[in-house]
Amino acid sequence: MVLQKTIPTSLLQPTVKPTLEHLPIATIYLDSNLCCVYVNHTWQELSNQIDEESYGDNWQNVIHSNDRKKILNLLKISIEEKCNIKIESRIQNIDNKELWVFVQTNFIPATEENSTTLCVTFTDINSIKVSEAAYSELTHMERLNIAGEMASSIAHEINQPLTTIVHYTGGCLARLENQSVPLEIISVMKKIIAHAERAGKVIHRLKNFVRKGDVHKKLTDINELIVETLTFMQYQLSQNRVDVQLQLSKQIKIIELDRTQIQQVLINLVNNAIDAILKNTSTIKKIIVTTKYSEEFIIFSVEDSGKGMSDTTLAKIFEAFHTTKANGMGMGLAISKTIIDAHAGDIQVKSILNVGTIFTIKLPIQELEHENK
Ligand SMILES: Nc1ncnc2c1ncn2[C@@H]1O[C@H](COP(=O)(O)OP(=O)(O)OP(=O)(O)O)[C@@H](O)[C@H]1O
Ligand SMILES: [Mg+2]
Repeated sequence: MVLQKTIPTSLLQPTVKPTLEHLPIATIYLDSNLCCVYVNHTWQELSNQIDEESYGDNWQNVIHSNDRKKILNLLKISIEEKCNIKIESRIQNIDNKELWVFVQTNFIPATEENSTTLCVTFTDINSIKVSEAAYSELTHMERLNIAGEMASSIAHEINQPLTTIVHYTGGCLARLENQSVPLEIISVMKKIIAHAERAGKVIHRLKNFVRKGDVHKKLTDINELIVETLTFMQYQLSQNRVDVQLQLSKQIKIIELDRTQIQQVLINLVNNAIDAILKNTSTIKKIIVTTKYSEEFIIFSVEDSGKGMSDTTLAKIFEAFHTTKANGMGMGLAISKTIIDAHAGDIQVKSILNVGTIFTIKLPIQELEHENK
């Protein structure tokens, strides 16, 4: 097929073309048949297609096969309705590398000398998408943790009254059996015991089901894990204008950790710190995250300039369902403590009302290495 390039006259103007050429956003021009007539340099870099390879309908191969039909339909609509469209999509370059892009169309009315109808830009949003996916995976894990912790607490609470029902009813039954009471009452009491025992078994199964899973340890540089986690939280931090200061040990120590679980703890601590800072009237909105190593421990802390806590609150913060927030579940710290305990570690807190709070976590290096042998 011979491809005819109909470069729009506007692009031939000496000032416009170089600007488009070096625009840091991948840009292509399409005619009314969705055939490409111009691509800029950034498109060539993004798609790994050189100039001529994109012309005609070849550029369409770059759109991910699962998204292609939808995108082409939308582009047709954009031309037919003379409107502009914005959508997220995936592209797949020649190396089969999948990337997320933000696709935007700009309708250009056709003129006598120029049949080009659509300018389409592709903005690379891959790193944002990857962070979002990782964060949503973490949030999913957190919800599972919360469900597990809640079920476990409920199971624990219900088990005791059930056992008491079985004991008392059994006691009554033993006393009544030698007396002349209607058989019907004896039968009802036996049923009470049977049902309470059955409920006990269900609760027991539920407790086993939600029991904390195994810790999946991986060799990890805690400094790198902290930086990665804070990247996921960048949006919340900047929305609330909270600065994070990192004071990370220069020493690099690779130790074994369950990355997802320790990330979960960090997210809980940083979220609590943000909440506490928002409640404080002070203008300083700062979180300091530090790491230190000793012979036996890796120590990291999250310190905030938030509202702080009274001694009464402090005494209860690790209890499940204890919260002072209107929308809080009171599960964040209970789960964090379970995770740190599962790593044979320790979590401590110091707080001064209206000044701030610091949570310090110690994880034993020796123990972690030893456990894995
Ligand atoms: N950094 C902090 N500064 C002040 N108070 C805090 C801080 N961290 C925790 N708290 C107190 O401890 C309570 C329990 O915290 P926890 O994270 O367990 O639950 P939550 O934040 O209330 O709810 P969620 O289940 O959504 O995390 C909080 O409601 C708050 O009163
Ligand atoms: Mg919390």
